[in-house]
Amino acid sequence: MTKLEPLRFNPGGTVGRPGVTAADLAALAPRLDEIRAEMLGTDLQLFAGNGTIPPEKQPLDAGFLELPERMLDPYLTTRKESELFRILRTAQELQAKVDRLVVLGIGGSYMGARAIIECCCDPFVNELPAGERGGRPKVYFAGYNVDNDSTRGLLHLLRATNRPNDPHSRWGMIVISKSGGTLETAAALRQFINAWIETYGREQLGEFLIPITGTSGKLASLADAIGCPVRFPVPEGVGGRFSVLSAVGLLPAAAMGVDVVKLLEGAAAMNDHFRLASPGENTVLDYVAVNHLAERNLGCQTRVLSAWSNALESAGLWYDQLLAESLGKKELGALPLTVVNTRDLHSRAQQHQEGRRDKLVNNLIVDHYRHDPLPVGRTGWNQDGLDDLAQRTLPELMAAAIRGTNDAYREAGRPTTDLHLPAADEASLGQLFQMLMLTTVVEGRLLGINPYGQPGVEAYKLHMNRYLRQGL
Ligand code: PA5
Repeated sequence: MTKLEPLRFNPGGTVGRPGVTAADLAALAPRLDEIRAEMLGTDLQLFAGNGTIPPEKQPLDAGFLELPERMLDPYLTTRKESELFRILRTAQELQAKVDRLVVLGIGGSYMGARAIIECCCDPFVNELPAGERGGRPKVYFAGYNVDNDSTRGLLHLLRATNRPNDPHSRWGMIVISKSGGTLETAAALRQFINAWIETYGREQLGEFLIPITGTSGKLASLADAIGCPVRFPVPEGVGGRFSVLSAVGLLPAAAMGVDVVKLLEGAAAMNDHFRLASPGENTVLDYVAVNHLAERNLGCQTRVLSAWSNALESAGLWYDQLLAESLGKKELGALPLTVVNTRDLHSRAQQHQEGRRDKLVNNLIVDHYRHDPLPVGRTGWNQDGLDDLAQRTLPELMAAAIRGTNDAYREAGRPTTDLHLPAADEASLGQLFQMLMLTTVVEGRLLGINPYGQPGVEAYKLHMNRYLRQGL
């Protein structure tokens, strides 16, 4: 494995405030160390079936922890028998077979895939002509809502862009549901199956529908009945929002040409770092410590993830779900809020600068861009007064905005931290995913909350079903 450039966490001026001093951090360090040891020792032992899981730790979906290594190791040794090999081969087959790919899923069953694709693919991949897409299909997400017009809109698009005489213009589906019974996804699947049959007939449906689901359940039975030759599991003991580095996130991403091996290598490198680095030098433990102390002692109950890149918006929304569903329990858990800057400086910054003092801003900063820096340039007119900035590039403007915003918040006594990603690419994103999943579990344990499971989500489903099945 090539050495990766690591993520860097800088707690900035947040440290030094009353309640978040170096001494407060040092006092918390032994507890964080204990939690880490428990996660890497007892939790994994219990997860593997060695002993009885105590009630407060049930469910113990600790499978995400070693998932990057579990995906990578067999690929590097036995290669063709590995699941990762199957994922890559299926992705290639999909690229050859379809020019539009619909990914159906909700919550943890689609947010990770969307985050990877948005971060690692061309931002306008769907608008590019086929040649420019280099064999990648266009990608659409559905099954994450019961929104009539959006579903009808996508079905209309798929019909309208169909070219009956071109066998390479067909569309296909990946449907993802761990339980296999989630209403939103199941309803959408029916609609997209019907649209597919209406266009291409029933015979080949199974080859254009790839389910990712548990070994049993309604979706698994449906896949049997239709005859889907290729399918992938959602690994046992990996919760939906922790499943991005399984086929759930990897297959859609690989189909879009993302280098998922690098993504997994990034995650595995974060695991190594988490296992070995001491508090004070450990990105996971330090991020938890600062965020936890700021929440407890400074009242920062709103945790703003300020992504300084359009490519990271969906990664932020993925984290919103991870944090909210994992820690929003027992009347605890910070409120996550993703913003994209500089865009949201023009919508939310006023409140962050002068509103309630209940926010910690965690900046997510991309250090290097994929493409050459674009200068402001000259047009021959200077009515906009920008000639003096003509040589400045967009990365320079962004760097000035980040520093300027941090200065403004500091002057107003508003706490910020900086999390640096070397680039918006696979290796960095893999590290970020694993880091944020680890921080969520560490913080859950610190708060005395089980970060796995989401019992509260059942309440709306019960009522919704009552209305639908027993009448209003
Ligand atoms: O994190 C979770 O477990 C949830 O957000 C699920 O991913 C979401 O409810 C979808 O569930 P399923 O994959 O069973 O359709």
